[in-house]
Amino acid sequence: MHKTILITGGAGFIGSHVVRLFVNKYPDYNIVNLDKLTYAGNLANLKDIQDKDNYTFIKGDIVDAAFINELFAKWNFDGVIHLAAESHVDRSISNPMDFIMTNIVGTVTLLNAAKSNWSGSYNNKLFYHVSTDEVYGSLGSTGYFTEATAYDPKSPYSASKASSDHLVRAYNHTFGLPAVISNCSNNYGSHQFPEKLIPLVINNIKHKKPLPVYGKGENVRDWLYVEDHASAIDIIFHKGRIGETYNIGGNNEWMNIDIVRTLCKIMDKKLNRNAGESEKLITFVKDRAGHDLRYAIDASKLKNELGWQPTLKSAEGFEKTVDWYLNNEEWLNNVTSGDYQKYYEKQYIKR
Ligand code: NAD
Ligand code: DAU
Repeated sequence: MHKTILITGGAGFIGSHVVRLFVNKYPDYNIVNLDKLTYAGNLANLKDIQDKDNYTFIKGDIVDAAFINELFAKWNFDGVIHLAAESHVDRSISNPMDFIMTNIVGTVTLLNAAKSNWSGSYNNKLFYHVSTDEVYGSLGSTGYFTEATAYDPKSPYSASKASSDHLVRAYNHTFGLPAVISNCSNNYGSHQFPEKLIPLVINNIKHKKPLPVYGKGENVRDWLYVEDHASAIDIIFHKGRIGETYNIGGNNEWMNIDIVRTLCKIMDKKLNRNAGESEKLITFVKDRAGHDLRYAIDASKLKNELGWQPTLKSAEGFEKTVDWYLNNEEWLNNVTSGDYQKYYEKQYIKR
């Protein structure tokens, strides 16, 4: 069946994997990738599919209502998969306003455009909002987030995502806009901007730079390989029940310090360094303000209803990820030159 689908934030980390999956798997779909190309957006992430007939890239800002309305009128989208966001917690602490604008105002701008453009008929339309497990707040050492867990966001980032989730639900409830939401745990894999823990550590090990571990390194995250997240988004987009929320997780909890040590071991081998050499780079630094202790996801609803499960075990996923960064030196060098240096200095050296 032919469909025209708007994917927002498709030049970012997860978005580029979702765009690639949809463009390759659904040749009958027109995939329109709308991205502002902030520091986190990179068209080099999509080089392999950029010339496909069923793919169009459009540069633009989801906050710009006139532009978004024109876009909807022109393309008459059947579905929206909304990933565009400011996504880094540390940046939300130093500059919350960007998060309010893109994550909240940008989401409402898209909701309004979908509502007015689709007002004739909501048949076969879907607004899919991609969100995070951080909306649920922080767990102690036990328990899991389920879809019924009360929202309790703790950072400007998670509060802005929680707000956007509430607005999507409100448009579904009040206006009948067909919408679905997923809340996913920490992703890792290729093309992730090296401000996030795993690619930052890989890049620093490569350059023998200190590996900054916040606090005692005891915070716990549930890690999911990014291609597994993309496959979950595919299933939820096609089979998810309208008005529902689905949690997505890797069933794969790690303490930060253990991940950092594991990456050190993998990279010592791959770079022919002495065992234990990279671990010496570990440096405990001032903790993140309001640092959430633990996230853990109960993804049984998605498994039981739609049959999705993560496929990749972390041992294989971490190896593949390290290999990708080592084999894509040009990509890494390009994204870590220029503004990244200024960000790094402010975040890690002058703090
Ligand atoms: P990212 O920061 O790598 O990419 C975000 C993309 O959005 C970039 O390409 C950027 O240019 C674009 N963008 C930002 N502001 C925009 C605007 N105003 N208009 C249009 N485009 C804009 O983020 P990511 O890690 O790929 O996350 C994608 C989505 O998934 C986000 O909504 C995030 O909240 C959610 N999420 C991320 C994770 C994770 O572990 N990374 C986990 C769960 C959910
Ligand atoms: O849980 C899903 C969320 O995961 C997504 O919604 C966010 O977009 C994504 O950025 C991620 O948020 P985190 O804050 O968990 O990811 P980050 O990679 O920034 O940090 C992971 C953990 O590592 C966290 O406990 C903080 C710690 N950390 C991070 C950095 C960048 C360090 O110890 N040192 C670091 O330099």
